[in-house]
Parts: sequence; structure tokens; C-alpha cells
Amino acid sequence: MVKQMRTVYLDHAATTPIDPEVREAVARAMAECWGNPSSLHLFGRKARDLLDEARVTVAHALGCLDAEVFFTSGGTEANNMAIFGAARVAPPHQRHLITTAIEHHAVLHACQRLQQDGWEVTYLPVDSTGMVDPDDLRRALREDTWLVSVMHANNEIGTLQPIHEIAAICRERGVWLHCDAVQTFGLLDMNVEELGVDMLSVSAHKLYGPKGVGALYIRGGVKIAPLLVGGSQERELRAGTENVPGIAGFAKAVELSRTHHFAAWQQIWQLRERLRTRLQDLVPDIQVNGHVQQCHPGILSVTFDGVSAESLLIALDRHGVAASAGAACSAGSIEPSHVLLALGMGEERAMSTVRFSLGRGNTPDEVDFAAEVIEAEVARLRSKTTASGGRVYSPAEASPSR
Ligand SMILES: Cc1ncc(COP(=O)(O)O)c(C=O)c1O
Repeated sequence: MVKQMRTVYLDHAATTPIDPEVREAVARAMAECWGNPSSLHLFGRKARDLLDEARVTVAHALGCLDAEVFFTSGGTEANNMAIFGAARVAPPHQRHLITTAIEHHAVLHACQRLQQDGWEVTYLPVDSTGMVDPDDLRRALREDTWLVSVMHANNEIGTLQPIHEIAAICRERGVWLHCDAVQTFGLLDMNVEELGVDMLSVSAHKLYGPKGVGALYIRGGVKIAPLLVGGSQERELRAGTENVPGIAGFAKAVELSRTHHFAAWQQIWQLRERLRTRLQDLVPDIQVNGHVQQCHPGILSVTFDGVSAESLLIALDRHGVAASAGAACSAGSIEPSHVLLALGMGEERAMSTVRFSLGRGNTPDEVDFAAEVIEAEVARLRSKTTASGGRVYSPAEASPSR
């Protein structure tokens, strides 16, 4: 019998495994609620009831009305819908938008598209911990500012932004605030009223739900234009037959997260801290990135000086340890992450940064195993670098077996 390799999944910020109860909810919806929710007959009504219930579940978790929840195909679409939808209803003399330098590409690329269409966009800087200064927002707001978009937790370094304070400033100035909460929904207690946001994006696959489903919260009274046109689904804001099984799985994931989340937060934070202290004890010349307290409980970004992150990830993968780089892969070339550069990090160090992200299925034993593997592989890769006179090896050179 072939012995199965041990695997340790430390990439929950990329996606989470599906909870078995979510899987069941999706399968049940597929088997029993396959009707079109827009149909008036019995089959349609069954699917419609399921959708309505799911909307109430998500609304409860967000602290809003069910009429303020719009299902989408995920976080990317929710972000696009908020930004383009708000932009389309802007008066011609109010085409200024403010965001931050460290947003997810689903926000940044939408903003860049608007710039091509003649919008002016201000990208707020962050400090070395990844935190936005609300005073910078105050200074950046103009008479013609129409929208502000600031994320809740950054997906690469975990830093949590002072959304409450940012929202108060936007309210004072009568400017809409959109928040990308894809990394925190289901983990942090989230109440859109308390946060003070006008729009908020969430995604199911970051909270042990299925991929390809999410939602945009739009505060009552905020009127945006649809991104997708066609049928009159989602109160005419998002055309297209709803992904009923996906939405059923999303609602189940939300329900489970509400029963788990305080315990999960504690447990995940303890595991993250265990990994951080193990690495700091075992591996010399490393730097932990992000804010020490204001941070996502599961995200740990670490710079390993003199080590190519890509080589390290490939080496870890050979031991069954899954993590990811603080770098975006585009068109076959690895670019240093815009988030790490925005912290003031140099390109070389950015390319030496790995993100470990823990979730509720991880155990202390897994963390200890991962730390030992990381220690050994960093030492091996550094010895190669030293042998080559300080040159950081590329992955192909560093791991000839792949
Ligand atoms: C902060 C953030 N926003 C948006 C997204 C996109 O969400 P989705 O994968 O559901 O489109 C992600 C996914 O990684 C994310 O981390």
C-alpha cells in the first residue's frame, strides 16, 4: 500500500476547504430545489423560498435587512458591482474616487479602468504596518469625491483598517464608502450599521463555502446601476438566474461561521501565534509583516531574507505544506506584490515573502511540523545562496526535481 503524504494546508486566505455540512446543503439544493426561482409554479417557489431564507441568513450575519443583500458570483463581482455601479450614477462633475494602494486587484483594476474613462483616483498610502491614516483620507477628500473604497483586512498581510473611523469621515462629508470584507466575513463579528459602510463585499469560499458565490451589501437609499443587465433578478441589480445551490451552500457556511466564529477566532489566532513564535525562534533573519494587533487572526506574512519565496514554496509543497507568496503571478512572470511594495519594502525582500494563512481545521501539531520543514528548507536554500556568492536562486535552480 502506498503511504499517503502528510499535508498541511496553510493557504486559507486563498480559499478554504468546504465544510461537510455545506457540501450537504449544496447537494440537497441541487436535488430538491432545482427549479428556476423566477418561475411561478411549485418548483420555482421551492427554489425561491430557499433563496429568501439564504438572504435572511446573510442579512442577519451582516446586521442589515434582507432587501439590502444582493447575491453575486463572488467577491470580485461584488467589488466590481460596487465600484462600477456607483460610478455609473455619478454626476459628471463628481468623478473622483479614493482607494488605498493595497486593495485587492478586484478593486484596484476596477479603479484603473475608471481612470481610463476619465476618472481621477487617489490611492491612499499605508504605513510600514499596512495601516491607512484616516487623516490622509480627510486631506484627500474633495468637493468632487463620489466614492471611497477601503478594504477591511488585507489578504496578504492581514492588517485591519480602521473602517469605523474612515466611515465616520465619509459620512461627515456625504461620500459613499465601500468596503471589501472578503477576508473577514465569517471570522469577525460584522455589523454594517456599526461599521458605518454603505456597501460591503463578501465571498463564500473564504468561509468554508463554495466558490463562485458571494454578496454585496448595499445600504437602503444607496442607488447604484447594475453591472449585468438582462432579467430582473436581485431586484433588477444583478441579472441572471441565481446560483441556487451555491447560495444555499453560502448560507449554510454563514450559519456555521456564526456558531463557530468566536471559538474559531481564538483557536486560529493561537495557531498563528504558535507558528510566528516557532519561526522567530528557529529561523534567523526573518521579518513578520503587517500590524501586530490590528490584524486578521489567521494571516502571517513572513520575509525570509536571502530566500526566493517561489523556491521556498516549491520546496514546502514537496513536504506537503501549502502556502503562497506575497507576489502575484502574471503572464508567466512573478511580480513583486504591490501590497509589500506599498509598505516600503524593496523588490528583493518582497520576492522573499511568504504568506501562511491558518484556518479552523489546522492543529498545533501541523503548525509544529510546518515550522520544522520551513526551518530546514530556509537553511538549505540559504546555503545555496551563500555558495553562489549571495545570488538568490531561481526556483528552477533551487529545486531541480520540479
Ligand atoms: C480581499 C479580497 N477581495 C476580493 C477577493 C476576490 O474574491 P472572489 O475570489 O470571491 O472573487 C479576494 C480573493 O482572494 C480577496 O482576498
